[in-house]
Order: sequence, then structure tokens, then C-alpha cells
Amino acid sequence: MKILGIEHIGIAVNDIDIAAPFWNHILNIKHKAKEKVESQGVLTDIYDTTQGKVELLESLGEDTPIGKFLSKKGPGVHHVCFEVDDINNAIIELKQLKINILSDQPTIGAEGYKVIFIHPKSTGGVLVELAEKP
Ligand code: CO
Repeated sequence: MKILGIEHIGIAVNDIDIAAPFWNHILNIKHKAKEKVESQGVLTDIYDTTQGKVELLESLGEDTPIGKFLSKKGPGVHHVCFEVDDINNAIIELKQLKINILSDQPTIGAEGYKVIFIHPKSTGGVLVELAEKP
């Protein structure tokens, strides 16, 4: 597997409209996209430094991954995403190494990326996303 860089940091927030101005106006990171990802039950708001993005994540309901995270841990860093050259190849390698991935097949995440998630148990405590550019 080849890691091409840090794609984004996913940050769970209670309300994008309240959290966004810090990233957009104080740090002055260019807004890239706002997108509802129904399959993950999340509204994403993406800021691009050009060397890694910040992805704000607001839940679309309590019974979603971000909804559950927020009620358990509150707002904060939810995951770190690395870009890979070939997601299917990464899945095969991770399975061979008995790494705990959350699905056997990539799903389509924000901006059309093919993504998988690696359980924090396998990474030293942080949810890791791998993503291949569409
Ligand atoms: Co992500």
C-alpha cells in the first residue's frame, strides 16, 4: 500500500454554522465544498489548505456514526484520513495483516472518494480513514 499524504482531518461538531467561521475566517482556509453524505448520515463542510483538508462533520441524526460519537465523546477530532493510491490493494494487505477494518468493501465518501475505515483498536487509538481519489 502506498500512502500519498494526509487527505483530511475529520472533526465532529455540533453545528457547522457555529464551528465554520474559525476555520474559514480566523485561519483563513479556503472553503471547498459542503456536502450531505446520506450513506454516512453526515453533513460535511470542507476547507482545503492545499496540503490536507479540514472536514467538519455534523450528524444528520443521533443514530449515525457522528451522532453516536458526539453523544459519547463530544465535539473533537473524529478521524484522520490518508490518501492511498489503490484502496482495493490496501484492503487486501490490511486483511492479510489481520488489521480490523470496518468494511470489506470501499464506500463512497465525500467528494466521491472511495473510502474505508480502520478501527482505533488497530491504530493506537484513532479512527483512520483511507481514501482513493475518484
Ligand atoms: Co473523512
